Amino acid sequence: MKPRLLTGDTPTGRLHLGHYVGSIENRLALQDEFECFFLIANKHAFTTRADKPDEIRQSVLDIATDWLACGIDPLKSAMFIQSEVPAIDELTFFLAMLIPFNRVMRNPTLKQEIEDKGLGDTYPFGFPMYAVGQCADILAFRPQLVPVGEDQIPHLELCREVARRFDQLYCNVDPHAKDDDYPKLGGVFPVIRPKVGRVKRLVGIGPPGANGQLTKMSKSLNNAIYLGDSADAVKKKIMSMYTDPNRLRATDPGNPSPQTNPLFAFLTAFHPDQNYVAEQSEAYKAGAVGDVVLKKALIEVLEAVLSPIRARRAEFEQRPDDVMDALRVGTRRANEVAEETLEMAKKAMKQDYFKRELKMK
Ligand code: TRP
Repeated sequence: MKPRLLTGDTPTGRLHLGHYVGSIENRLALQDEFECFFLIANKHAFTTRADKPDEIRQSVLDIATDWLACGIDPLKSAMFIQSEVPAIDELTFFLAMLIPFNRVMRNPTLKQEIEDKGLGDTYPFGFPMYAVGQCADILAFRPQLVPVGEDQIPHLELCREVARRFDQLYCNVDPHAKDDDYPKLGGVFPVIRPKVGRVKRLVGIGPPGANGQLTKMSKSLNNAIYLGDSADAVKKKIMSMYTDPNRLRATDPGNPSPQTNPLFAFLTAFHPDQNYVAEQSEAYKAGAVGDVVLKKALIEVLEAVLSPIRARRAEFEQRPDDVMDALRVGTRRANEVAEETLEMAKKAMKQDYFKRELKMK
C-alpha cells in the first residue's frame, strides 16, 4: 500500500504561480508515489466571503479546472469538495475540545490574515475555527505527508499537536513516543510531516507593503500571475512589474536582490539557467543590462511553464461536466476514507454507538 498524502486549496479565486511553486509542483511529483487526496476547502472560503456564494461556487470549479490543467490525474488522485465530506465537520467538533482557544489565536498565519485582509475584530467565529477545521481536513485522511506553502506551517504544527493529544488521551500512546511511531503504538492519527515547496514564498509583482518588504503573491493583494492568464496578460503584467524604483535608465546601477526586486525573485524562482541569472545580476549592478531585456527573458521562461497549462485549461473549460465528474469520483473516495477514520476516532473516544453508511449520489 502506498503512503498517503493530503493537501488542498481554498477557493477564493483561481490558482496562481505562488500556488504552483509552493505546492502544486510537489503534488505532481508525488502523485505516483503516494495515494493522494486534494481538497477544495470551500467551507474555509466562507470564513471571509460568506456573502459571495456564487463566487465561491465558481472558484471551486476554477480550482478543479486548474488542477486538471496542471496535470493532476483524477484516476490516480482523489480531488474532492470539503463540504461534501461530513466526517470532516464531525471531527472538527471533537478536535476543537483538544485545542486551547488561546493557542488558536496565537497562530501567526491567522494573525497575518486578519491584518492583510483588514478583518479588525469583526471576523466571524468561524474564522479562527477554520484552523481547527484544517486539522480535521488533514487527519480525516490519516496522511503521512502534507505538501503546503510555507505560510501553512503554523496550521500543520497545530495539526501535529492535536494528533498527539488525541492519541495520548484516547489511545494510550506514551507522550514520550516518537512522532513517527504514533500509529504503530495504536494511535488513530499520524503526526504528519509538512513538505514545503521548492520556492518557500513567491512574492507578487507589485511594490513592497507597509513594512517595506515585498508582499507574497496573493489574489487579495492584487499582485498575482494566474495559471489561467492569457499570454498577453502575462506579458503586460511582467512588463509593468515593480523592479528597482531608483533605476531610471538601463545604464543606472541597479539592485538585483530578490528580497527587494521582484524581477530577480522571479528569475531566481523560474529560470532554468541560474548561471545566466547570476551573470545578469552582476550586469544589473553595473548598469549593463536593462529591465526590459530581463523582463522579456522572464516572459519566455514563464510561458514555457504556463502555455501547456493554458492549453489544457482551455480544453477542460469546454468540459465542465467532466470536471464535476472528477470531483464526484474523488469525493466518493474521500468519504470512504474519512468515514472510516471517524469510526476509528469515535471508537477510541467510546462514542461509537451505532454504525452508519454514507451514500453519495
Ligand atoms: N488553508 C489552506 C490554504 O489556504 C487550504 C487548506 C485547507 C489546506 N485545508 C487544508 C491545506 C489541509 C493543506 C491541508 O492554502
